[in-house]
Parts: sequence; C-alpha cells; structure tokens
Amino acid sequence: MHVHLGCTLLLVLLVNEVLCRTTSSILQSQLGAQGRSLVLVGGALSDNNAAVYNTIVQMAGGKGQARIGIVTSASLDPNTQYQGYSDVFINRYGAAATLHINVSIWDSSVAIDDHLANQVRNMTGFFFGGGDQSRTVQAMYLAGHKDSPVLSAIRDQFMAGAVIAGSSAGSACQPSSVMVTGGVSWDALKDGAQTSSKHTDDLTYNPDGGLGFLEGYVIDTHFANRGREGRMIRLLSDTYTLSRGTRRGVGIDENTALVVTHASTSNGRGQVLGEAGVTFFDLTSSYVDQSQRYFSIRNVYLTYLTHGDVYHLHDHDVTFAQDKTPLLGNENYDHALTSTDIFYGKSSSSSRKPEFLRVAASIFDARLDSSSYGTTYEKNPTFRVEMSKTGQSAVGYVKRAHDFHTDLHSYKNMYVSIHAA
Ligand SMILES: *[C@@H]1O[C@H](CO)[C@@H](O)[C@H](O)[C@H]1NC(C)=O
Ligand SMILES: *[C@@H]1O[C@H](CO)[C@@H](O)[C@H](O)[C@H]1NC(C)=O
Repeated sequence: MHVHLGCTLLLVLLVNEVLCRTTSSILQSQLGAQGRSLVLVGGALSDNNAAVYNTIVQMAGGKGQARIGIVTSASLDPNTQYQGYSDVFINRYGAAATLHINVSIWDSSVAIDDHLANQVRNMTGFFFGGGDQSRTVQAMYLAGHKDSPVLSAIRDQFMAGAVIAGSSAGSACQPSSVMVTGGVSWDALKDGAQTSSKHTDDLTYNPDGGLGFLEGYVIDTHFANRGREGRMIRLLSDTYTLSRGTRRGVGIDENTALVVTHASTSNGRGQVLGEAGVTFFDLTSSYVDQSQRYFSIRNVYLTYLTHGDVYHLHDHDVTFAQDKTPLLGNENYDHALTSTDIFYGKSSSSSRKPEFLRVAASIFDARLDSSSYGTTYEKNPTFRVEMSKTGQSAVGYVKRAHDFHTDLHSYKNMYVSIHAA
C-alpha cells in the first residue's frame, strides 16, 4: 500500500505516470503474478513472432515499462546482435529501453564493471542472444565458477522477478545442470558424451553446467529441426551420475518458446508457445545394456508438447491445450510410419514434420499399430530407434489443420528404446 500511496503522491506532484513504475514496483508485481520466470526460445526466433516477443515484453513489465538487458556474450558480433534485438524490442514490441550487456570473452573487464552491474539492477528483464553457449559461461563466471558482479546483478534481478529470456545458445546456457556444447545424434550414440573434442559432430558438454536459472533439466535448442533426440538421450544417460547430472531434459524447437513461470516451486509450469514444440525427456527408469558392443538403452519416456500445452515441472504431469482433442478413437490412419533417416530434421521453409516427430505422431494417429521404429541413415553401426504408445499411460492429443504434416500433435510418455540394428 506504501507503493500505491507514493505513486498517487508522485502523480499529483509531478503528473508523470511513468515515474510510478520504478524497477522494484514492476518486479514486485511480476514476482507476484508469475514467480521467477523464463522464456526459453529454441533458436531462429523470427522478428515477426509477436506471440513470443509480446510475452517477453509483458513478463518484463509490459509495453512502455519493460527495460530489457540484452546479453551478447555468445555472439561473434555483439554490436550487431545488440542493435538488432534492441530495435525489435523497442520499435516493434514497445519495450521502454534496452541495455547492452556486452560481457565478452574478449574483454574480461566488462563482467566486473560495477557501473554496468548497477545499470543491470535497473532492468526488468533480460534477453540472451545466440551464438555459442560456452562463450557465455566462460565470460560470465570468474575463476572457480564464481558469479561475476554483472552475473550476480542479473541473478538478483531474476530472484526479484525479472524475466530471463533467450534464444538458441541464449537458452542452452541457462541450466544449473550439465550444459550441452555440441554434437549430432548418430555420433553421440556411437561415441558417447565427452567434455571436449576436436570433431564438431562429437557430443560434448560442460560438467559445471550453465548459468543456473533453470534447475533439474538439460536444455537443448534447434531441437527436432536438427534431430537432436539421440544426442539428448545419450547425454542424459552418460552424465546423470555426475554432481550436476540429471535424468531429465528439454529440447526446444525453432521459433518456439517454453514459457516457465513459478520456477523452482511446486507450482512450476512450462507452457509451449509458437509454431512447433518442446520435447521432455524422462530417463528416471532407463536401463543401459552394458553387454552390448554399441550403446543400447530402453525405458526412455518422451513427452512432446505443442502450442498451449503445459508441462508441470515439479510433478511432470501434463495439461493439454483446450483446443486439442484426444487421438484415441479419433485416429486418421490405420498404420504407423517408419523412417530410414530417423534423425533427419527439416529445413525452415518446409511444412513437413522432422522424421522423428513424423514417426512418433503417426503412432498416436494410427488405429491398428501401437509401435513403430526408424533407423539412422549413418551405418556402422546403424542405430534403430523403437517407439511405442503402450505402457506408462501414454496418450496423444491433436489440433487438426490441413493434413498430417500441419496437424499439431502432442503426446505424453511415449516409450523409446535404442540399439544397434
Ligand atoms: C562489445 O565488446 C566487443 C568485444 O570486446 C567490442 O569489440 C565492442 O566494441 C563492444 N561494444 C561496445 C558498444 O562497446
Ligand atoms: C533506470 O531506467 C530509467 C528508464 O530508462 C532511466 O530514466 C534511469 O536513469 C535509470 N536509472 C539508472 C540508475 O540507470
């Protein structure tokens, strides 16, 4: 009530409404409404994606109020990245101001700049741009994984209610759990997770984790677009026993966001926003058969959610969007599909589903089949990915559009196993 009276007084005295919304009053109401919050975008965020941009601005205090710090530490061209996002946030989506947080591996003085840290404390939200998440982690921490003054200021703002948003590397850098840093699915399945490698196709990760704004999940991006399901399963399986390991992961598709509210509480929820979807991985009952020459895993469960669906981060339950209907009894096809290139993604211009999602959706949209499979295009070994809708209360939902590829399929608890064919 203090704040309200103060504002009224200021209004009367200064007739300046803007002055009413100090950073702390904005953060207080944001914290009350949405708790600690993140908007994690899977990369390739279009300037036209009004749903995602408006959500970030809204969660940072709204049009004419939001002050957004733009972190360019992942980028090779920080000035251009800042100018691009600043222009979009202010001129297209009505943010009041932006701040260039130019923390960088090329200039270690920025992360310890107290003047910048004070400016950070005037921000109501943050946006982490893309590039390479390893650069962000390297630039943001001091020796010994200690928060730099700028990271410490961002963390204080987050705890007070400022939204943390990011795209691509700007999302992948956010977990407290191990951070994925590179690799493709087949090489990951064949050779496993490594802390460093000269070969860009090898699965690599940082065991110290990311910035620590989302707990309990590995975060990956460009997800189904680049067929990263195999790399996530192998990473979780190889690292869950580490101190920052976890058996759960989220893979976010391009131009799509996971909007997290009430993070790190029993009300924590993640709602999917945008054109594609988010895959949730559950390896809590997975089993690796060590007697096999090549990686062999079973009892992996995948949940794939699309626009409007909600994942409950604490109890891992799902609420499907109200405009979707159950697939059971409403299937459009007799049989499920197979694939001979299961980790083939898609080009951004194509409306065709990526191969993994195509086979998975077809299982839930088939009357007569309850399982199917796909194999890798790469050989020696060829990996075979089995998928099934039987067991652990698997369920599929759909919002029908024009055809199979444009229908919006979602499913919960699809069973997956992988072994050499
Ligand atoms: C941001 O940092 C980079 C790398 O140190 C530097 O080249 C660039 O000029 C900086 N931008 C601004 C606006 O200071
Ligand atoms: C905080 O932001 C407002 C609005 O952009 C600005 O007027 C004010 O000077 C800033 N304060 C500090 C300490 O940077």
